[in-house]
Amino acid sequence: MAEKSKILIIGATGYIGKFIVEASAKHGHPTFALVRETTVTDPQKSQVIQNFNNLGVSLLYGDIYNHESLVNAIKQVDVVISTVGATAIADQVKIIAAIKEVGTIKRFLPSEFGGDVDSMTTVEPATSLFGEKVKLRRLIESEGIPHTYIVSNAFAGYFLPTIGQLDATAPPRDKVVILGDGNRKAIFVKEEDIATYTIKAVDDPRTLNKILHIIPPANILSFNELVSLWENKIGKTLEKTYILEEQLLKNIQDSPTPLKILLAIFHAIFVNGLTLKIDTSSGVEASEIFPEYH
Ligand SMILES: NC(=O)c1ccc[n+]([C@@H]2O[C@H](COP(=O)([O-])OP(=O)(O)OC[C@H]3O[C@@H](n4cnc5c(N)ncnc54)[C@H](OP(=O)(O)O)[C@@H]3O)[C@@H](O)[C@H]2O)c1
Repeated sequence: MAEKSKILIIGATGYIGKFIVEASAKHGHPTFALVRETTVTDPQKSQVIQNFNNLGVSLLYGDIYNHESLVNAIKQVDVVISTVGATAIADQVKIIAAIKEVGTIKRFLPSEFGGDVDSMTTVEPATSLFGEKVKLRRLIESEGIPHTYIVSNAFAGYFLPTIGQLDATAPPRDKVVILGDGNRKAIFVKEEDIATYTIKAVDDPRTLNKILHIIPPANILSFNELVSLWENKIGKTLEKTYILEEQLLKNIQDSPTPLKILLAIFHAIFVNGLTLKIDTSSGVEASEIFPEYH
């Protein structure tokens, strides 16, 4: 059997990063996590770091703003996965510079993990945010870096626990606010599944220089369908308020950041809709190419 690639995760201690670290280690890849020294001693991150130690993950101290630390970390691996957060998307040019300098990386997966930024229809401030991911794609391609873009669609854990109710900590019991007319299909994927598909992709030639779309058929649901599933579960009909596009656009304009960003992303998902049909010249679908996992 071919040896499993050594994987470096940059952004390992973040929301999606820790799932990817875990999947990498559990699938038998020698796994390295780039962590900032201050994070290792942060009591809030101690459980995450302890879990990395239990999984046998090698911690490498570094920072995306410290070129030498990036180069040292990248030299030790075959594959680099970035899961840095929204504020550091543009700064991944620094990872690209280090990958170019090292020159031996077999695959780079930049921090995508959302919709397909090349085909999504968005309004500001989502347009600027996703625009950074588009620019990065073009840079990776022009630099000739072998890559895979993970289009994971919506993180289930972000949306489903409250059925998209802003400021809620539990799912609605009496009233529910629905964005748009509720009929647009969205795609919700569990974080563990995103992580598993991501790790399966790194050594697979079918995902080389392609987009990996994660669209398992059972995960495609409209807002109305989700609410209806929940109503059936609790045996109760909820009072529904629809925020149609015109009102939603006004709410985006009038809201402070970061709520503005979240609403603009919700607008892209629930009003404009995500990519359900993939372009097979540029992408593959995860549950189709990895049926053994699905
Ligand atoms: N599809 C969806 O529903 C959805 C939802 C949310 C996010 N996303 C996308 O998922 C991706 C990851 O987002 P996230 O929310 O998981 O990120 P996050 O929780 O904000 O985590 C960011 C990670 O980057 C690390 N980091 C920050 N600055 C760094 C630096 N200078 N050097 C090294 N590491 C640094 C952080 O380390 P520390 O622990 O040290 O701070 C943390 O590990 C993004 O592309 C985002 O757009 C998608």
